[in-house]
Amino acid sequence: MRKGIGILLSAVLFSSIILAGCATKKDGGEASKDTAVVKVGTDAAYPPFEKQEGTGEISGFDVDIMQAVAKAAGFKVEIRHTGWDPLFEGIDSGKVDAGISAITITEERKKKYDFSEPYFDAKQLILVPADSSVTSLKDLNGKKIGVQSATTGETVVQEAFGKTYPNLKGYDDTPAAIEDLKLGRVDAVVADNGVVLEYVKKLGKDKFKVVEDASFEPEYYGIIVKKGNKELLEKINAGLKKIREDGTYDKIYQKYFGQ
Ligand code: ARG
Repeated sequence: MRKGIGILLSAVLFSSIILAGCATKKDGGEASKDTAVVKVGTDAAYPPFEKQEGTGEISGFDVDIMQAVAKAAGFKVEIRHTGWDPLFEGIDSGKVDAGISAITITEERKKKYDFSEPYFDAKQLILVPADSSVTSLKDLNGKKIGVQSATTGETVVQEAFGKTYPNLKGYDDTPAAIEDLKLGRVDAVVADNGVVLEYVKKLGKDKFKVVEDASFEPEYYGIIVKKGNKELLEKINAGLKKIREDGTYDKIYQKYFGQ
């Protein structure tokens, strides 16, 4: 019964947005009043988890997961590129309802946001030029290290060499750090394994290589919502459970990561 009304309501809302002529995708406006569609923010510059070419569609593992979760739990999503820091600010201000962006579940973040059940295992990796002599995190001491600011990549470097390590360069997004690595402006980039491996594939094994370090702790990605948004969190967790059980998760995993 309630579900029927909900569907009817969303149908009415949806068509009124279409009639209004523009489904104001970017800056809220009409869409921000629309409670029927869950607005999901991401920093679409972290392939293979999320990427966007120009103003094209946002795609990636996280996008497929979020869409499958929504479908399984019976809600609609609109995924928009926010950037990394603005994603968290957007959750705070209510501009977006949820965030999926390869976000590692950390104790620090858990103080401010609620996380879904973990949906992906990760860890840090070091990306260096193929001819680099670096074989461990320690070897990076004194070297210029690029990271995306406010990520766990930054945390591991700060934990190793101090919060004010002068050779740490923080970037707004990971592609900018990679760009500087290519130009030789930094000696290494520390980022999530999935992303580092993707760049090695793209840039060529002859040019870049990966260095692991035993000190890197296992990390788990979660979907975030505003603290206390139990209703949405429960739906997301229910959707995650369903797609794990019915094989959808595995299919998506295989699409991006093989076996
Ligand atoms: N997993 C890391 C963290 O949570 C990096 C995530 C960066 N994600 C992104 N879409 N740029 O800090």
